[in-house]
Amino acid sequence: MWLIQTKINYLYNLKEMKVTVVGAGNVGATCANVLAHNEIANEIVLLDIKEGTAEGKALDIWQTAPVNLYDSRIIGSTNDYTMTADSEVVVITSGLPRKPGMSRDDLIATNAGIVKSVTENIVKYSPNDKIIIVSNPLDVMCYTAYLAAKVNKNHVMGMAGVLDTARYRAFLATELNVSPKDIQALLMGGHGDTMVPLPRYTTVGGIPVTELIEKSKLDEIIERTKFGGGEIVKLLGTSAWYAPGAAAAQMVEAIVRDQKRVLPVCAWLEGEYGLNDIYLGVPVILGKNGIERIIEVDLNADEKQLLVDSAAAVKTVMDVLDEMKVF
Ligand code: LAC
Repeated sequence: MWLIQTKINYLYNLKEMKVTVVGAGNVGATCANVLAHNEIANEIVLLDIKEGTAEGKALDIWQTAPVNLYDSRIIGSTNDYTMTADSEVVVITSGLPRKPGMSRDDLIATNAGIVKSVTENIVKYSPNDKIIIVSNPLDVMCYTAYLAAKVNKNHVMGMAGVLDTARYRAFLATELNVSPKDIQALLMGGHGDTMVPLPRYTTVGGIPVTELIEKSKLDEIIERTKFGGGEIVKLLGTSAWYAPGAAAAQMVEAIVRDQKRVLPVCAWLEGEYGLNDIYLGVPVILGKNGIERIIEVDLNADEKQLLVDSAAAVKTVMDVLDEMKVF
């Protein structure tokens, strides 16, 4: 009886829960697919500006439900923001992806306007939602959304660290021939070539990674991680989507299920790590209130310097946004 009641409560909670994904491109559609497949919300709205795209992809995803046996409803919409009303979490993936030879920063001119207008529309209908930005250049698009949303800083965050650590963990799992499940890692800084993977905070089943791998090999993996997005752009001619979509879905899950997950997230810093008024990747506790706490780990002088350099790189792009006078 207790079990039945628990199951009913669980389903009831799911019923209440709406999550929106804006942008039905590769990343947005993959994220919506993972959310539906894992029944992370009862209702998932996929929205895109391009006529019919979100409806088509949502219908295709919904038609996997009888095969994959899940109940989450997924609905597509061409730019009708009323359908997103009262979302608990909104993932924004809108904007152009990279082409070979481009850096994420090259996207700012196009994507800033898009992220601003999407965010304004979203908060009109879901003023209390938590917003997860995936659009690039990631850190500065978080800043754009924060300026546009005018909400609590803990409700506007970016997905980068979960993806970048996933790449780092995947490379380590291949190299060590161990389960990726057993690799725990921390990576900080901006979502660009200056990101800061932290070997001192990387363990394999609780064992410091430095005990299992030679320094030169680990350095190689760290370099590969920093350029992990670019490696895929080179291979595919466009950005990655499976890992970015799954990483964003993991953050949604942490919030809607109030899991208090400890994840690297792009957050607005006000003095943490000695940095002010900047969006940057740091470890946080993620739960129903969004970023519930920023964790300040001890960094040695070298690590601190890498973080400061990464912050400087992000600041340069923030300045470009400020000069664009989008706000
Ligand atoms: C990447 C994009 C999503 O790193 O920024 O693949």
